[in-house]
Amino acid sequence: MSRLYNIAVVGASGAVGEEIFRVLEEQKFPVGDVLPLASARSAGGKIEFNGKEYVIEELTESVFEGRDIDIAFFSAGGSISAKYAKYAVEAGAVVIDNTSHFRMEPDVPLVVPEVNPQDIASWRETGIISNPNCSTIQMVLALKPLYDLYGGIKRVDVATYQAVSGAGKSGMEELVQQMHDFFAFKLDQSEHKAFMHQIALNVIPQIDKPMPNGYTKEEMKMTNETAKIMGANIPVSATCVRVPVLRSHSEAVTVTFNDDVVVDVDKVRLALNDFENVEVMDNLEEGVYPMPIVATDTDITFVGRIRKDIFQDNILHMWVVADQVRVGAATNAVRIAQKWIELEDV
Ligand code: A2P
Repeated sequence: MSRLYNIAVVGASGAVGEEIFRVLEEQKFPVGDVLPLASARSAGGKIEFNGKEYVIEELTESVFEGRDIDIAFFSAGGSISAKYAKYAVEAGAVVIDNTSHFRMEPDVPLVVPEVNPQDIASWRETGIISNPNCSTIQMVLALKPLYDLYGGIKRVDVATYQAVSGAGKSGMEELVQQMHDFFAFKLDQSEHKAFMHQIALNVIPQIDKPMPNGYTKEEMKMTNETAKIMGANIPVSATCVRVPVLRSHSEAVTVTFNDDVVVDVDKVRLALNDFENVEVMDNLEEGVYPMPIVATDTDITFVGRIRKDIFQDNILHMWVVADQVRVGAATNAVRIAQKWIELEDV
């Protein structure tokens, strides 16, 4: 590997876009030119990358022309990817898309590099590789070693505790503003735009829009995307909940294995710890378990509260926490790019 890669980031002023630059820098990604893109609102602003300043440009249909971009990260929402990803592809870039727009298209690979790196190989069919939903990424990172350990998974039930940063910068600002308003005794006058209800001192059992089957779109993303990434039809039933945490998602995951499996918690711990970028943090006696404040700003998916079901030998419960801006978005996108480079190099 010797050459440098020209990078565009669409949504460069957003929570995930900013984090992509941070991760590229930390990982010493072989970056050549940098093209930060956002809406007209942020155009002219600056970002700093590897000690150099770059001016944010407005995303337009022609902005990729003649720029020789190798990799375009898209993180500005599904409608923006729907409209503009094709222009980046036409200009010769591979698009790594953080939105849900292309994820379930059969010819677009949906990749968590530790779980299904082989799927990247089909990127040429559309020029697009999709980054899965944040809650899905951290869950499959914990499921894959267990799937391999016990030769399959019969079903998964999960309840998520999702941070406000999942809704971007405006989600974080809304929580902070409402807490200010609470201490100023005016929470009742506080606005909410990012979320349907007040998020400060509350939990909201709805993320994304309702679906006809009584689930939400976020919940169905976890169901559908898990099957595609794992390459297996594992039934997943999710309840996705927004909680007043700034950053990092937590998940209570119940895994049912095939009927003949007797869960061995020690073996489960070993399998999880041996898996790339997964770490067990589990000592209830000492109050040791993953929490959002532990996972934030790391690239690790932490697993704790690992226990066998009280009633059934083939059921395991665990608590999975990861920084969803990094593991669930920016870091996964950069890891996809790294694997893509390996493929292109051979
Ligand atoms: P802008 O800052 O110009 O609005 P977040 O998820 O943190 O809310 O960030 C969303 C990102 O998507 C921001 O960088 C935002 O840019 C960008 N974005 C939103 N709408 C557009 C658009 N129409 N064209 C290009 N970028 C957009």
